[in-house]
Amino acid sequence: MDFAPRIVDWQRRHGRHDLPWQNTQDPYRIWLSEIMLQQTQVATVIPYYDRFLERFPDVAALAAASQEDVMPYWAGLGYYARARNLHRCAQEIARDWNGRFPPAAEAIATLPGIGRSTAAAIAAFAYGERSPILDGNVKRVFTRHFGIAGDPAKREVEQRLWALADAQVEAAPDLDMAAYTQGLMDLGATLCTRGKPACGKCPVADSCVARREGRQAELPTPKARKAIPERETCMLVLRHQGAFLLQQRPEPGIWGGLWSLPEFDTAQDPDSASRALGLEPEERYELAAFAHTFTHYRLHIRPWLVPVRAAALRESSQPERWVPAGELASVALPAPVKKLLQGLVEAGMQGGLFRD
Ligand code: ADE
Repeated sequence: MDFAPRIVDWQRRHGRHDLPWQNTQDPYRIWLSEIMLQQTQVATVIPYYDRFLERFPDVAALAAASQEDVMPYWAGLGYYARARNLHRCAQEIARDWNGRFPPAAEAIATLPGIGRSTAAAIAAFAYGERSPILDGNVKRVFTRHFGIAGDPAKREVEQRLWALADAQVEAAPDLDMAAYTQGLMDLGATLCTRGKPACGKCPVADSCVARREGRQAELPTPKARKAIPERETCMLVLRHQGAFLLQQRPEPGIWGGLWSLPEFDTAQDPDSASRALGLEPEERYELAAFAHTFTHYRLHIRPWLVPVRAAALRESSQPERWVPAGELASVALPAPVKKLLQGLVEAGMQGGLFRD
């Protein structure tokens, strides 16, 4: 049997069938799942996906919302450009496509933030279109199975992989595209994993070059990695009468549109940073430092807890607000800030850390 029919056969018997975005042909639901799954694990995505759909059940609902309405439903998932593009896409679909999702991969790929592989996945699942995908997992399957060396992010290598992806579909005229596409994803996620692939269970092991030559650990060829830069920032956890001061982050930029803690430079001290915001510190406690890794750098965060006397603020270029501890859950916070504040609230309630 050729490559593609073996993948379909295996998917039907051993693949995943009960994920919340399967068993639907609604392109909106499929699109949302594919965007959420781009850099995020299935288990993390599921509760976000359900909540998002409950609030924004279709393209019209999403297009009618403001970006401010959408961000809380993405807060904690990371890569926030995805949410901003999603919202832009919905507005473009409402305006340019009469509210109907574009009918083919080529048109879907013209929407903001949707690349060729994501467009193909949506079209395969929603319309059965014969357009192949090539995401990170599938690149791993293909480089191993067809023995393609070289960094798969490089143009020449990527072009060879796309040609191979096309050829597998071409060779199988009656292919069930939804099962094939899901099968490639499932194989990459469950068997053909980066470390210790389960070749004994793989439906295409007998034609796999990497398996035959024992090169599973070498393929795909790793990117020549530069060391990731390190940065440091201090955060102010300003606290007054059970509330925390939050600032909305400017766009564009890291955490753009989310509500975060005021930051200050490591050369400054927490008292003068508080006073710069018009707030008089009562005390200051240095909290445990932690790090958060973004795509392009690692950020070391040194938080300070500073109870302040009064809540009057100075004029500021950024929107600011005092948020009571009990309302933090409804605010769009970056994941590490949410974790920090939740930890503090829990510790405060147990240990009487806060006197107010
Ligand atoms: N990752 C990207 N798309 C996916 C899908 N449809 N199912 C499971 N994992 C995925």
